[in-house]
Amino acid sequence: MTRVIIYSGKGGTGKTTISAATAALLAQSGRRTLVLSSDPAHSLADALGVAVSRDRPTTIAPGLYALEVDTIYEWRHNLGGFQQFVASTYSSRGIDRSTAAELANQPGLDEILALQRVMSEAQSGRWDAIVLDTAPTGNTLRLLAYPEMIIGGDAGKKFFRVYRGLANFARPFKRDLPDDRFFDEVGGLLERMEQLANFLLSPDISLRLVLNPEKLPLLETRRAYTFLNLYGMMVDAVMVNKILPQREDLGPYFDYWVSLQRDYLEDIEHSFAPTPIFRTVLQGGEPIGLPALSSVGQSTFGLADPGAMLFDERPIWLEQWNDEGQPGQYDLCLKLPFMDEEQTMDLTRSGPDLTLTVGRIQRTIALPRILYNCTMGDHRYEDNVLRLEFREGVELNDDDSQVNATDEFRVEAA
Ligand SMILES: Nc1ncnc2c1ncn2[C@@H]1O[C@H](COP(=O)(O)OP(=O)(O)OP(=O)(O)O)[C@@H](O)[C@H]1O
Ligand SMILES: [Mg+2]
Repeated sequence: MTRVIIYSGKGGTGKTTISAATAALLAQSGRRTLVLSSDPAHSLADALGVAVSRDRPTTIAPGLYALEVDTIYEWRHNLGGFQQFVASTYSSRGIDRSTAAELANQPGLDEILALQRVMSEAQSGRWDAIVLDTAPTGNTLRLLAYPEMIIGGDAGKKFFRVYRGLANFARPFKRDLPDDRFFDEVGGLLERMEQLANFLLSPDISLRLVLNPEKLPLLETRRAYTFLNLYGMMVDAVMVNKILPQREDLGPYFDYWVSLQRDYLEDIEHSFAPTPIFRTVLQGGEPIGLPALSSVGQSTFGLADPGAMLFDERPIWLEQWNDEGQPGQYDLCLKLPFMDEEQTMDLTRSGPDLTLTVGRIQRTIALPRILYNCTMGDHRYEDNVLRLEFREGVELNDDDSQVNATDEFRVEAA
């Protein structure tokens, strides 16, 4: 099977650089490697310092190939009829053709098409490894959830079939119903999206989050980490890039920045343990071209194999308990291997974040959205897993459970 590594993160954190650096190391270790970019604003070629084809993989070095997925081509090729139908529906409502064509490009769909390209490259058997450089976090995360959202499970597919039947029946009477090409394409897309959902959860695929030691990337990455873990994607590493070097000659102007970064680096360790964290120092210049990228890769991974599954546990998951018609009841489960059975634990819930403190160890995680309006209940610690009960709605019988901005708890370990 082909090993697929997806790099995701906020804009400008270094996804393209780290993707290209990883691919360079993989190729140097003898693996036939494709680095592929799904961001419509491609910069893979800029990082590699050579032109990259949007059509077929370009040879960069022995065993190393690159491709910038052309989403316009993928759209035309896969969804031309769909696009035409949506555009003509808009333009029949008086929206001009160019605007209608833009509107027909549903956000997220072009990334799904790019991911489908990754899937077909992975299934082609041509590659030992594929590294995917994605667009900034928001979109990529949404698209990971998309396959299930659009299909809406079996009910959604049934609905689509019924609609298709109805449209076949009604078309002679009503001119602006979609034609067969539309249904074939959407039907095909739905099927491939279902495959994609399974593909993304297969054991050879993992995602790595790239961030910088700064506040906003940290907050966003924490949310992404929770989302991805709950969704079931394997996050096998967190990559911290653009760390200022610890050097005396940086001068006093940088003292503030160095110490700020030190605090965020500590925060990052608290947020993503036990997932391994890799660090990349801010280089003396922009790492453009293969030699510079390889050297960034080597200093980032050290002795670790960048192609390995660097971590394969799920540190966070959610279990749902409610009976039909009852308010939601959930167990948020956290893997906490470091906890001593005798130790007490402090839990502080502050808005969307939850901080656990056990002795000197602290861990902050972003709560899943569904728990934002839930009240925290009991807790259990068994087999290295902390289970926190959450219940939808606010309980009226207990004063301190009313708090939802900041809750504090102290748990005696079992
Ligand atoms: N460790 C580093 N040291 C020095 N410069 C770096 C480092 N990492 C990245 N850069 C530079 O920072 C800029 C942004 O990096 P890059 O393009 O890899 O980020 P990105 O996350 O892919 O951005 P986008 O979200 O726009 O796709 C580039 O000019 C790159 O050369
Ligand atoms: Mg990029």
